[in-house]
Amino acid sequence: MASAPVTVTITGAGGQIGYALLFRIAAGDMLGPDRPVRLRLLEIPQGMRAAEGAALELQDCAFPLLHDVELSDDPRVAFDGCAIALLVGARPRGPGMERADLLAANAGIFGPQGAAIGEVADDDVRAVVVGNPANTNALIAAAAAVPGVPADRFSALTRLDHNRAVGQLAVTLGVLPGALRGVAIWGNHSATQFPDVAHATVDGMPVPDALAERLGGREAALAWLDDVFIPRVAKRGAEIIEVRGSSSVASAANAAIEHVRDEQLGTGGATTSAAVVSRGEYGVPEGLVCSFPVTSDGEGYRIVEGLELDARSRARFEASVDELAAERDAVAALGVL
Ligand code: NAD
Ligand code: LMR
Repeated sequence: MASAPVTVTITGAGGQIGYALLFRIAAGDMLGPDRPVRLRLLEIPQGMRAAEGAALELQDCAFPLLHDVELSDDPRVAFDGCAIALLVGARPRGPGMERADLLAANAGIFGPQGAAIGEVADDDVRAVVVGNPANTNALIAAAAAVPGVPADRFSALTRLDHNRAVGQLAVTLGVLPGALRGVAIWGNHSATQFPDVAHATVDGMPVPDALAERLGGREAALAWLDDVFIPRVAKRGAEIIEVRGSSSVASAANAAIEHVRDEQLGTGGATTSAAVVSRGEYGVPEGLVCSFPVTSDGEGYRIVEGLELDARSRARFEASVDELAAERDAVAALGVL
């Protein structure tokens, strides 16, 4: 017998990432070939026509797993009974807008959406925030959802950063991405993030050793990590904007699908990266939504604990955590938390 459909709500469904997400979710790429889905698309009135167009095209694909599609501009309708929420729609930074203005504008979106999730979503709902600033938007939504839904059901996307790190290593080492394990993104989904290979392996060999072999010694490997790898991954979003003329779309949608898939179906013991609510792990202040190396057994992400961070790595991580704390303080000053 076919299993019951899972209600998946996508906000900003009429936008670029929404368009790249909907068809893959309906095709079964996110939850597997045995899980029918109901899609609920949340848009603001200006985005509704684009979302309607996508809904028509979804019908025209006749996906066997797609139960139905509904659109709304009301979060309480769109999140009703939802088990998985992908919060993509966000206010982009406009000309002359300061970071504090951006945080305030997004607090006005993610606060009400979090509150609606707390009131009307499924008891087991999991929500991932894609819209930037993703970590702090997740913090806002999580705070607004309590007590209806526990804060730790919210996460933010750093899987794109993780995949970018794996992609850079694969090219440099001349291997397929699947040969790499244990790469980690620590901190914020921003230029302060710390992509870390200290515990990573390639075909079972420590990545630092493989880089030293490939690049002509340990010093050359360290220089490549500091001067090329870390800044390239941390600033890849800006590089894509410069080259494409707009921010990443297909790679972001792919990462969001992998994030939810691994959270729901498990990582099989493998490590990936996700921004999750800190309970004080690695000294990160409780409540911040921070990227860590994580695993999943299908019941949500768990932070991999006990990894050694040397002084340089710890300093990089702490700088990114300081940025997250400053964003939290700026939002708290608005009276949102
Ligand atoms: P887009 O402008 O093409 O689409 C955003 C959509 O959200 C629009 O259709 C808009 O109408 C809608 N929207 C705005 N406010 C809304 C609200 N309150 N409720 C529902 N919908 C609303 O942008 P995009 O390219 O799809 O990117 C979306 C977001 O994802 C941006 O914030 C972008 O910076 C972010 N992003 C994050 C990552 C990541 O790795 N975390 C990667 C790429 C992009
Ligand atoms: C990305 O990482 O591609 C997005 O978050 C866009 C950005 O502003 O970097």
